[in-house]
Amino acid sequence: MTQDDAPGPGPSRPGPEPLLSVRDLSMTFPGGRGRSARPVRAVDRVDFDVARGETLGLVGESGCGKSTTGRMIVRLLEPTGGSVTYDGRDISHLSQRELRPLRREIQMVFQDPHSSLNPRQTVARIISDPLLVQGSTATDARRRTTELMELVGLIPEHIDRYPHEFSGGQAQRIGIARALATSPRLIVADEPVSALDVSVQAQIVNLMDRLQRELSLAYLFIAHDLSVVKRVCDRVAVMYLGRIVEIGPKERVYTAPAHPYTRSLLSAVPLPDPVGERTRERITLLGDPPSPASPPPGCTFHPRCPKAQQLCRTEAPELRAPAPGEARQVACHFPEAA
Ligand SMILES: Nc1ncnc2c1ncn2[C@@H]1O[C@H](COP(=O)(O)OP(=O)(O)OP(=O)(O)O)[C@@H](O)[C@H]1O
Ligand code: SF4
Ligand SMILES: [Mg+2]
Repeated sequence: MTQDDAPGPGPSRPGPEPLLSVRDLSMTFPGGRGRSARPVRAVDRVDFDVARGETLGLVGESGCGKSTTGRMIVRLLEPTGGSVTYDGRDISHLSQRELRPLRREIQMVFQDPHSSLNPRQTVARIISDPLLVQGSTATDARRRTTELMELVGLIPEHIDRYPHEFSGGQAQRIGIARALATSPRLIVADEPVSALDVSVQAQIVNLMDRLQRELSLAYLFIAHDLSVVKRVCDRVAVMYLGRIVEIGPKERVYTAPAHPYTRSLLSAVPLPDPVGERTRERITLLGDPPSPASPPPGCTFHPRCPKAQQLCRTEAPELRAPAPGEARQVACHFPEAA
């Protein structure tokens, strides 16, 4: 499904109510021990929507707050600020009991398939547990488990095997089948292919793409590089140090990135054509990302930005459309002209 022509991310997006809406979403972790320990602002006033059946890619370097954002959406973490609205209902501060019916609808797929599956449980147990919790009979749950195994490309005869008997790619298929067991409408996939061999990554991405079309799923697809989400996302959000610095339709962001950070991430993606690969512009960033415990003033990207000017050192740019009618938003005082 492609929504490249759909106007705008965030609050101005018209049309039917989004399935997921996050506004001003923030998470501050308390600092550790010691006098120098400061609170960590891991996610800082993040806004975005995910429409029904849509995929929003969420990308950025290690430590920028992607997983924390995902964990707040599935409510493994309670936000310290802002809101998560699912299907019109504010779920930011629901109790565990109140969350129970929603757990069916919002599922998560994790990065490391083997460590996210209980090694002492068979596939039958792993996939059917959520069904039994919902009240299915043992016979129905086992039948549904074999159907789910087929759906994700596993051999149903392997239903009584243990996770260690599967390869990484197959184990991720088990993780996906488990997430699908409750017929969710939203899946937060946190780096679902990053731990897999490159050849297997494409198979899992293709599987997720097919499942989305067949089951009308919406995905928040988290990855640290832009090339992985390109195949699967409709829109993409780029995070840097807890904030979204660019968000918009895939075609706009990939073909005409407006934020210097997005440009640098894209310039690191290898091109399939060897001539293009030799001649393309590469933007190397200075230094490592700063700590979210002590972010730089002004635009937090300024110490690493090749375009930084005086204004950037003192004033934080707001996320906004760089030109009237633009479908994407950028947080930069001097965005690249499209
Ligand atoms: N429970 C926690 N307590 C304190 N700090 C935390 C906690 N969880 C995450 N952080 C910090 O919050 C920041 C964001 O972490 P997060 O795991 O969300 O990043 P990420 O973008 O998912 O990174 P990666 O690509 O490495 O998975 C990091 O500085 C991290 O050290
Ligand atoms: S606001 Fe300034 S420092 Fe920040 S990304 Fe834009 S040009 Fe670079
Ligand atoms: Mg992470």
